[in-house]
Amino acid sequence: MSTYTSTALAHPNIAFIKYWGNRDNALRLPSNGSISMNLDGLFTRTTVTFNSSQYDSLIINDRAVIGKGLDRVSSILDLVRGIANINERAEVSSVNNFPAGAGIASSAAAFAALALASSRAAGLILSEGQLSRLARRGSGSASRSIPGGFVEWHMGAGDDDCVAASIASVDYWNLTDCVAIVNAAHKKTGSTEGHALAGTSPLQNARVADAPRRIEICRKAILNKDFEAFANIIEHDSDMMHAVMMTSTPPLMYWQAATVGIFQEVRAWRANGLPVGYTVDAGANVHVLCLSEYSKEVEKRLRELPGVSDVLVAGVGGAAQIL
Ligand code: DP6
Repeated sequence: MSTYTSTALAHPNIAFIKYWGNRDNALRLPSNGSISMNLDGLFTRTTVTFNSSQYDSLIINDRAVIGKGLDRVSSILDLVRGIANINERAEVSSVNNFPAGAGIASSAAAFAALALASSRAAGLILSEGQLSRLARRGSGSASRSIPGGFVEWHMGAGDDDCVAASIASVDYWNLTDCVAIVNAAHKKTGSTEGHALAGTSPLQNARVADAPRRIEICRKAILNKDFEAFANIIEHDSDMMHAVMMTSTPPLMYWQAATVGIFQEVRAWRANGLPVGYTVDAGANVHVLCLSEYSKEVEKRLRELPGVSDVLVAGVGGAAQIL
């Protein structure tokens, strides 16, 4: 085999029903299913080249990465080499267009783009389901950045059917995510470490047992474009995940004072007729969801709040794609 190269682009996603905790850490089989939307305008672009070098190498935003970051990428390349039956090492080069420290989880877009670029560079044409499963092995939420639009990740019975698929297309509903950036004073615990702690919270079993109900409500709210039901369920699900985080041993507290301040404003705005709802991932930033016609107003209000240093605005993003 000589040199084979491919470039792919994928969007990050924001979870409406959260993935928190694995039933199998090695295979990244989640304890519960989840639902998300891809974020348009934000992306990771990754080029993979298989060549005659002795080792895999990784460059992210012009900086060489070694150690754990490289190992995590190599483990996906190993899976691809196994399927394609090749031995070549790879050069992986990746660029994010969203600011570092913006608190947008980059691993979802990164491993979705890596799964697509590396499999194509190895000469494989994988189905969407196969790509979603491959991306999942690098980062659970990356399984949801392979299909486009609104996506459900099914927990499945095992590796084969633990896969994400679109439940509604990019154009189905004009939701917009206004991400209020809150300056986090402390370095957060990464999600991989966090998932491993989920089971130490006595609340996790209840959260997981109730997940099918929340998924059903959220899926229906999206399909019926019922914003009120949608806002209520995403806030409830986010609060439940953070309750598990806070009651884990050791406890994880991702919220800052400003995070809670934004929750209270968002709920007051909704009570006064502005359709908005919040959700928070493993960080302090607040994702405020609204319909696109309200996004200017929501952005303006968020910028006026104490502790908000910036606001990113993203519509519904498409599927991962080869460039
Ligand atoms: C809070 O997918 O980042 O954002 O599989 O260890 O990479 P790893 O975890 P990751 O976890 C995401 C956690 C979350 C909720 C979500 O996106 O569903």
